[in-house]
Amino acid sequence: MKIKLVSFAIICLACSPIGNTESLKKTEKEPHLSQAYSYIQNPDARPSLSLNGAWSYIIDPYENGYYNHRYQPYDQGYFQNKQMTSPSDLIEYDFSTAETLQVPGDWNTQAKELLFYEGTIWYHRNFQLNKQLNKRYVINFGAVNYAAIVYVNGKKVGRHEGGFTGFQFDISDYTNNGDNFITVKVDNRRERDQVPTVNTDWWNYGGITREVSILELPDSYIANYRLQLSKANQNQITTDIWIDGKLKSTSEKPALVQVSIPELGMKQNGYPDKNGKVNFTFKPNTDVKDENSLQQWSPKNPKLYSVELSYNGEVVNDKVGFRTIETKQDKILLNGKPIFLRGISIHEESPLTDGRAWSEADARILLGWAKELGANFVRLAHYPHNETMLKVADELGLLVWSEIPVYWTVMFDDEIVYNKAESQLVEMIRRDFNRVSVALWSVANETPNSESRLAFLTRLIAKAKTLDESRLFTAAMDTHSSSSNGVVIDDPLIEFVDVIGINHYCGWYYSVAEKCAEIVWENPYNKPVMISEFGAGALQGKHGDKDDRWTEEYQANAYKYNLQMLMNIPGIQGVSPWVLKDFRSPRRPLANIQDFWNRKGLLSETGIKKQAWWVLNDFYVNMAIKKDK
Ligand code: GCU
Repeated sequence: MKIKLVSFAIICLACSPIGNTESLKKTEKEPHLSQAYSYIQNPDARPSLSLNGAWSYIIDPYENGYYNHRYQPYDQGYFQNKQMTSPSDLIEYDFSTAETLQVPGDWNTQAKELLFYEGTIWYHRNFQLNKQLNKRYVINFGAVNYAAIVYVNGKKVGRHEGGFTGFQFDISDYTNNGDNFITVKVDNRRERDQVPTVNTDWWNYGGITREVSILELPDSYIANYRLQLSKANQNQITTDIWIDGKLKSTSEKPALVQVSIPELGMKQNGYPDKNGKVNFTFKPNTDVKDENSLQQWSPKNPKLYSVELSYNGEVVNDKVGFRTIETKQDKILLNGKPIFLRGISIHEESPLTDGRAWSEADARILLGWAKELGANFVRLAHYPHNETMLKVADELGLLVWSEIPVYWTVMFDDEIVYNKAESQLVEMIRRDFNRVSVALWSVANETPNSESRLAFLTRLIAKAKTLDESRLFTAAMDTHSSSSNGVVIDDPLIEFVDVIGINHYCGWYYSVAEKCAEIVWENPYNKPVMISEFGAGALQGKHGDKDDRWTEEYQANAYKYNLQMLMNIPGIQGVSPWVLKDFRSPRRPLANIQDFWNRKGLLSETGIKKQAWWVLNDFYVNMAIKKDK
């Protein structure tokens, strides 16, 4: 039965956290939530139907399931899921007899013939939906790389571009009570005008690479919410909540929004305003002498608080930490105290299986290795990782550098490309701004200096600041210039970031390891510097002289002198060597050494430690001991 839905705006003029009941006016025009907040936060915390598992698939390199022979989109595409009803029917595709792929999962590592495949693959599965009255049904994709067109019961519900951020479509009006089917056109072709563009040093894993679920929500529901220590007053917790959805035409008693943080003995409620927004300010006890006072999150004490949000019969639970992160001259301050970020860079590749990481088990192993290394920080390169990775980082006490794949030579002078980058930035921030571990948002990696690049990146930073001012902004730059005896840190972007990220491969791409420690670094900026990448390649198990390329000894020697170099850099406040684990790359074909793996990992692709692991581990352990003295 279709529920007749009209929009309903809640006008609460004198609304206060306690919540006064104001006259409620219905208007036909329900203001749309800004794209930043019309995202259903924490989908895993909502009642849902998982669509993980085996999906049928059809490889479609000529997009024959989308275009007719005149290369025009046609309505008889594979998304119709046509079945033969008589022996004379001409239907040249059939999902019911097709092979299957596991979702989540990249296709490259699920079938030998798909390892290098770049193009379209159609995914298809059936599902049963037991629809309830007054409920909304929203499909949530953790990520699809690179472009997705989603059809439900043969009707297009939406499309998304960008391989590393979640997206959602309301499918309430597309689904039946009972039998349904979903078809997704996934296309991972690299294009010059995409983000990232055609050249990257990582594998172009295609597919539905993260989890898929159908969320069941009340007809008016908690969309996004954000809890964080106020930038203005670090003893206050600000809470913003965005309500979305439409109510039935009957005059409903307005529903109160309630937020509680039981461990802090705090609870407030109030009505959403005409834009569906409500915010509260909590003033927790911050008397450090009192054991019930607010404990600020840190790597040493990754304190998370259970938070309960409720509205219109829905309860959303989350675990949120509270901390401050800021810079003061050339220092990074966590909760007001200087911190050195002992990090490691990580690609989103599974340590358990081959291919893209997506599960909690993947996250616990990858981040468990970082903790074992002595790290308090991880650079999740070069794109937003899956949400579970950040929730585990919250729990383990690892600060995070999170980044969008504005990588190398994207088309900085193209407005459409800018919009693609901005969409991915917004999607990253609106998903993760409750993740206390995220300390830095990065807008780029190794982008060549130009006016259009500067305009592009500063515009992204300005946009990000409208969504979240509680974190630091950075980028990984390789555009430093050299002086007669060293390196001068200089890039026009530095004026716009809080922390200067520098990628520098002394002893691998240039110079020799022993000379790294002699480099004179000039940092004319009174800002913190991080070496966001240094490293060297080694094939695990290959041994020889420290000058023999690809031996573990060569890599360990490079680490030894780069770590000495590190401490000569004015304002150095952190490092995230490249990289935790060997990872697949189409740019690394050297037979019997690389075999399409980038060998700069401290661990082999199967997780075996190389000598350099111990060089970095010693450095971090000794640094941590010194710091604690
Ligand atoms: C670059 C780049 C990485 C790449 C690494 C390498 O700095 O940022 O994505 O993998 O160097 O050359 O191995």
